Amino acid sequence: MDSVIDHTAGVDFVLALRRRWADTLYPALQTQLQAGGQDAELADTESRVRALPAYPWFSWLERGSQKMLWRAVIDALDDEAPGADDALAASVEMDEQLELPDWYTDWDIHLQPGGVWSSQAAASVYELGARLVMLGENDDYAFHRVFVETALPQRAWRRIVDLGCGFGKSTWPFKAAFPQAEVIGVDLAAPCLQLAARRAAERGLDIRLRQADATATGLEDASADLVTSTMLIHEMPVEVLRELFAECVRILAPGGVLRFLDFQFTGDALRDMAMREHGARNNEPYLPAMMQADLIAFAEAAGLVNARWVAFDERGAGRLPELRWPRRAEWHFPWAVLEAEKPR
Ligand SMILES: C[S@@+](CC[C@H](N)C(=O)[O-])C[C@H]1O[C@@H](n2cnc3c(N)ncnc32)[C@H](O)[C@@H]1O
Repeated sequence: MDSVIDHTAGVDFVLALRRRWADTLYPALQTQLQAGGQDAELADTESRVRALPAYPWFSWLERGSQKMLWRAVIDALDDEAPGADDALAASVEMDEQLELPDWYTDWDIHLQPGGVWSSQAAASVYELGARLVMLGENDDYAFHRVFVETALPQRAWRRIVDLGCGFGKSTWPFKAAFPQAEVIGVDLAAPCLQLAARRAAERGLDIRLRQADATATGLEDASADLVTSTMLIHEMPVEVLRELFAECVRILAPGGVLRFLDFQFTGDALRDMAMREHGARNNEPYLPAMMQADLIAFAEAAGLVNARWVAFDERGAGRLPELRWPRRAEWHFPWAVLEAEKPR
């Protein structure tokens, strides 16, 4: 009983801390920066931000609270790691020869100890952590539903491939919205795929789950009419993203559609600085370079057309018509969708 109370209190505390970071510390930084005038060049703005009284709090708490989050989640799940379900595990298309790339295993992405690929318990830790990262506002996974509802053309899709599907929260809404489609989730992490199989079965969703690198899915040429990813591309080195676009073009059928949900810079110096530093503070080392790269050019070089970024506001209308976000005082990730098509 005591430990249940401790665990609940631990998770609640970290969640509250992270909310205050977003809705109190970030606006405090903005206010303090504006009080000093805001007409300098970006480099000067960065120096001035680092000198603000709220900055050490903002900076340390982002990393410190993320570490506390994993600790709280690991403690809370200690007694509850799911047992293996052999039948479900066998349904995952595993690649026994697959070698995980060094760039993938070298970092504890999001500061999660051991990474999502390391064990079945790690996948469960990631599942609970992923809810809390949304500050408790995504308990029913509305974020990914809104993406499916607003960011795609309405078509009778035949094959949808979700790259970097994790434990499946980005994949379920496709099958729920387009039950006639064959939906395939692809990920490097076997433990995530096994958890995804369990969660899909609980939801009564028939989804193919496949262990593969998104740059080499092993799927047939021209077999997919929709290829998506959510929160994947900022986890990949920029040079690998060129291979990713090439693979998407290979598996897309003529006229097929590509949608990647990720981040873009906003033009607001403080917010953009916070994103760059988020990459360092949250162990997402490839994130700033992805945001800096001209991925429209990458997409076009791979043979895609009509490539462009639009903003995504999961708390409002979802996909927005251009690369501009609603203004909010609190910290808010600059979500954006990279859209492109394969010519007919
Ligand atoms: C932040 S999670 C996103 C999961 C899911 N799409 C979502 O929106 O919740 C990123 C996922 O991409 C996977 N991943 C990273 N690089 C990959 C690659 N090259 N090929 C396949 N999966 C990859 C990771 O294992 C992880 O499960």
